[in-house]
Amino acid sequence: MTDMTVYAQRRARLAAIMGRGVAVIPTAPERVRNRDAHYPYRYDSYFHYLTGFDEPEAVLVLVAGGSPQSILLCRDKDPEREVWDGYRHGPAAARERFGVDEAYSVRELDARGPQWLADQPALFFAIGADAAWDARVLGWLNAVRGHSRAGVAAPSEIRDVRVALDEMRLVKGPEELAVMRRAAEISGGAHIRAMKAVRPGRWEHEIEAELLHEFRRHGAQAPAYTPIVAGGAHACVLHYVANNGALQDGDCLLIDAGCELDGYASDITRTLPVSGRFNAAQGDVYAMVLAAQAAAMGEIRPGNGWDAPHQAAVRVIAQGLIDLGLLRGTRDGVIESGEYKRFYMHRTGHWLGRDVHDVGDYKVGGQWRELVPGMVLTVEPGCYIAAAPDVPEAFWNIGIRIEDDVVVTPTAHEVLTHQAPKRASEIEALMRDG
Ligand code: GLY
Ligand code: MN
Ligand code: MN
Repeated sequence: MTDMTVYAQRRARLAAIMGRGVAVIPTAPERVRNRDAHYPYRYDSYFHYLTGFDEPEAVLVLVAGGSPQSILLCRDKDPEREVWDGYRHGPAAARERFGVDEAYSVRELDARGPQWLADQPALFFAIGADAAWDARVLGWLNAVRGHSRAGVAAPSEIRDVRVALDEMRLVKGPEELAVMRRAAEISGGAHIRAMKAVRPGRWEHEIEAELLHEFRRHGAQAPAYTPIVAGGAHACVLHYVANNGALQDGDCLLIDAGCELDGYASDITRTLPVSGRFNAAQGDVYAMVLAAQAAAMGEIRPGNGWDAPHQAAVRVIAQGLIDLGLLRGTRDGVIESGEYKRFYMHRTGHWLGRDVHDVGDYKVGGQWRELVPGMVLTVEPGCYIAAAPDVPEAFWNIGIRIEDDVVVTPTAHEVLTHQAPKRASEIEALMRDG
């Protein structure tokens, strides 16, 4: 199967789910950072999932029904612009290369849009995702309505195309898992490189640079999200991204970083001792979080509900917090009261795929979704202990999270991010010998 066949199959599946109607799926716009400088371009995940086409200013129009049609609108060839900005396929080459039925200049979009919508029962569109696109597509609808006396009917229904696409994207195919395995491998290597570079006196941004170097060196296009490199108290700020502090002897360092490869994210967190050895309190909290992760992993298999891994992690952490003297009462008591959330305030994971927090509902019909093979999720319990008078000082500013990426398999699960060591003794050995 050539890689383009996969995209054609996805379009055929979407068309089958749609039944009859027309889907309009634009890619992401280029975004200005300041004056003539742009943010690095990232295509829209839905558009790319269906086309593999990575140029900006492109739209997929998918006509479902008896004989489904894929129509790509893209930038024209432009030798002058290509001297400045690089190669553009242009419609003719794009049609061949990407295996669509028709391709046109994106400049023809507003003229052709109403024609595609005419006499179709439904328009499928990401309603509300972008105000400018909403207005544009509604303009086409009104243009069709304007021709009603000529006997042309406008779609009577507008449906959110993401409902079907999110379900499709939630369960990954083998070709997607292959990319995600490689992304995980690159990110695992980056964490190893970071572990070897850590020592007192170095800076968080220096460690961030090691991660980014390793991502890019292996061809990953970008980090999948801004890396978190958080020493000491910074780790208790869940979305800390300043990464500008010095690493202090005696602190922990939390690193949450993953690359994006060919449109797919990886998402790994490791926590290590800046000195190279966890002290007693750090070691105890670390062991608790690792045990919580193992308990959560143990619940990942087909048929279990989405919430089962989280509940398993919460039970271990609740008991652990009592055992460490950080909470008083019984395990079920501190779970029921929510007291454990003072130290573990986020959930144990999220879907992972093209987006780091990937699409897909977590509940269906009011019930937690059942895990099925091909779903990819993160497993990332943590414990964050800010300095406070009622907490023994030995625990102050310990922030620990351990995060792996896991795919549900027919029998249980596969850990995609196994390359990054996580046993305390392995991390210490790597830091000592690295
Ligand atoms: N790195 C984002 C997350 O862990 O959810
Ligand atoms: Mn995550
Ligand atoms: Mn993460």
